[in-house]
Amino acid sequence: MAFGHALPKRVVTNQELTAFVDTTDEWIVEHTGIRSRRVMSGRETVSGLGAKAAKMALSRAGITAKDIDYIICSTSFGEMTFPATACLIQEKLGATCPGLDVNAGCTGFLYALDLADALLASGKAKRLLIVCAEQISRVADWTDRSTCVLFGDAAGAALCEAGEGLKTIRLSAKGNANILHAWPESGNSPFLAEAQAAQPLFMNGQEVFKFAVSNSSRDINAVLADSGLTPKAVDYFVLHQANLRIIDAARARLKQPTEKFPVNIQDHGNTSSACIPVLLSEMTEDGRLQRGQMLVLSAFGAGLTNGAAVLQY
Ligand code: UT7
Repeated sequence: MAFGHALPKRVVTNQELTAFVDTTDEWIVEHTGIRSRRVMSGRETVSGLGAKAAKMALSRAGITAKDIDYIICSTSFGEMTFPATACLIQEKLGATCPGLDVNAGCTGFLYALDLADALLASGKAKRLLIVCAEQISRVADWTDRSTCVLFGDAAGAALCEAGEGLKTIRLSAKGNANILHAWPESGNSPFLAEAQAAQPLFMNGQEVFKFAVSNSSRDINAVLADSGLTPKAVDYFVLHQANLRIIDAARARLKQPTEKFPVNIQDHGNTSSACIPVLLSEMTEDGRLQRGQMLVLSAFGAGLTNGAAVLQY
């Protein structure tokens, strides 16, 4: 497995957000751990960012785009309604394989990993590229201080090969759009009862917080039990970067040291399904991630979806 990532050029600090909404750097840092985030601007595109992350993963794996058998793009809000962002990325890479998008909110990387595992295990693919490409800034409500301060844009990629690292994975979904949702712009069908107006991101933060804390620990303990591992045997717990307090609650329940819980939320905010692959790519870059290490991944998000996996790098 090899990871890559790409970030938009524009850094937006907490201080800058005070121009849009009634907030402070102190509130954001204290309640979330976020200090800045990257936001797509100018002519940057989701597929452009995704292709850049993919190229880094391919180069680290020492293979070319022609060697990939499948592209799974995880995106909460693709570049277009169609074609799939995976196809836009495929074109930019010069790959010739099939590709499709999956949307499991912020849990998208784990859902993509599960599909990848099935395709690799069945022999339908030998090398598969997962690209998590997210532009939440496009659906964010920039007038709502309780949500717009939380998110950032990014892309993270993982090149997966047959017979590699995934030890166990558990996924769940509990359908509920009331807690966290966004509507795209509608068409103008005369057959619908009423036209659905576009609606920016809405989130009941406290409900998601409760869901995250209870499910993350349960998922992590379940995958540890499935793999016969104790928390001590795990090198890193790579968790969804939604809130430092959620990560810390999971850490406290597992009674493990802070160094085992890498974070990048302070610099990137919540980049939805890109959080985990971006963090793994950064850990490759700075040498924290070494071959053979045992990782637990865990995420939750819109759906509501959640899941965890044990991966040996
Ligand atoms: O990827 C999955 C998606 N999301 C998540 O994982 C989010 C999970 N939830 C959270 O991270 C937290 O619930 C939040 C960060 C969203 C909110 O933190 P909180 O500590 O739960 O704050 P709260 O919602 O209880 O709000 C406390 C106060 C409220 O004011 P009053 O009613 O006490 O006067 C809010 O209006 O803080 C206010 N507030 C803010 N104040 C300054 C909310 N957002 C802000 C803000 N700046 N940005």
